[in-house]
Amino acid sequence: MSDFVSGFWGYFISIVAVGGVVFCVTLLYSQRRWLGAKPAGGQAEDTGHVWDDDLTELNNPVPGWWTWMFLLACAVALGYLFLMPGLGTYQGLLGYSSADEVARQQARMAEAVRPIYARFETMTVPQIAADAGAREIGQRLFLNTCAQCHGSDAKGGPSFPNLADKDWLYGGSPDTIMQTITYGRVGVMPAWKAAIDPKTAGDIAQYVRSLSGLDADPERVLRGQRGYQTYCIACHGVDGKGNQVLGAPNLTDEVWLYGSSEASIVKTILDGRENHMPAHGDILTPVQIKLLTAWVWGLSNKPDAQAQPAPPAGPAD
Ligand code: HEC
Ligand code: HEC
Repeated sequence: MSDFVSGFWGYFISIVAVGGVVFCVTLLYSQRRWLGAKPAGGQAEDTGHVWDDDLTELNNPVPGWWTWMFLLACAVALGYLFLMPGLGTYQGLLGYSSADEVARQQARMAEAVRPIYARFETMTVPQIAADAGAREIGQRLFLNTCAQCHGSDAKGGPSFPNLADKDWLYGGSPDTIMQTITYGRVGVMPAWKAAIDPKTAGDIAQYVRSLSGLDADPERVLRGQRGYQTYCIACHGVDGKGNQVLGAPNLTDEVWLYGSSEASIVKTILDGRENHMPAHGDILTPVQIKLLTAWVWGLSNKPDAQAQPAPPAGPAD
């Protein structure tokens, strides 16, 4: 399939490909006299160029077999363009496609690894988390598909949550983690610019800071608390502990997605924040998602009773 929006490039490629072969044949045809010529009197004709006194250059026609090879090459080229995709959007008589080839290889690959994954299909997430081999596969999957955002140690970074601690935006049960990975998440903190002026936002930020025991000015905290109760409790709760249904973070702990400075909190309040965790249901198989869930879950939970050592890259809280 072509990804071009117009048919132009398809025609362009076809013209260049067929035109090239036509040009070669025409060139040969235009030289037919010379090619058919026999050396006069059995004597090789020379070009009249002389170097170093006695070095001359002969001008004999190429041998017949060479001409036939040339024509054969042109015929093969046309035959190829007829059978295989090479002329713009024409698929070729044999219907070959490199995309199908890749799909076949992937299917063979999936078939080959199926037995490796099969034994995890009936296991529960805590059981998988306790299995060293499964954790290794889970970690590799994580490094391939998740580490670019959450970091190779899963500890996240600004706007990317830490998955290795016990603090969860949406919840840390196996089912919730699996749901997050399969369907993705969108966290939306609305912008309050229209309703809250920067000074009030600063006071509310002071109150938010006081919730987690950070330095704050007591007077501004009191003013900010009123603002908080008006605008924020619907999502972050009266006590500031957040709401996992909405992905509204707990504001009373030391974990910050965007930073705990007054400036950063004021920016969050005035401009809002929108954060996407992409869905992986189409990219990964259900068993792969289960292994990933177990690996992530295992980072902050002690694996099953038949205890195994802590996960390899499992940074504890
Ligand atoms: C493109 C970047 C990106 C990739 C890739 C990505 N994530 Fe995320 N993930 C995020 C963001 C951003 C959030 C936070 C969403 C929010 O704030 O609502 C998140 C949230 C999560 C959460 C919820 C955390 C909580 O506190 O509730 C889990 C679990 C998670 N990701 C696991 C994974 C796993 C496993 C993978 C690999 C399959 C992955 N993520 C791949 C960006 C990404
Ligand atoms: C409609 C629900 C909703 C309301 C109302 C709301 N928030 Fe949020 N807030 C969220 C969500 C959801 C996030 C997480 C955004 C993300 O995933 O990136 C968030 C994030 C934040 C953060 C970032 C926390 C961090 O870890 O960096 C702060 C601070 C915050 N809100 C403060 C407030 C304050 C103060 C108010 C009141 C002015 C408020 N929020 C009102 C839903 C809400």
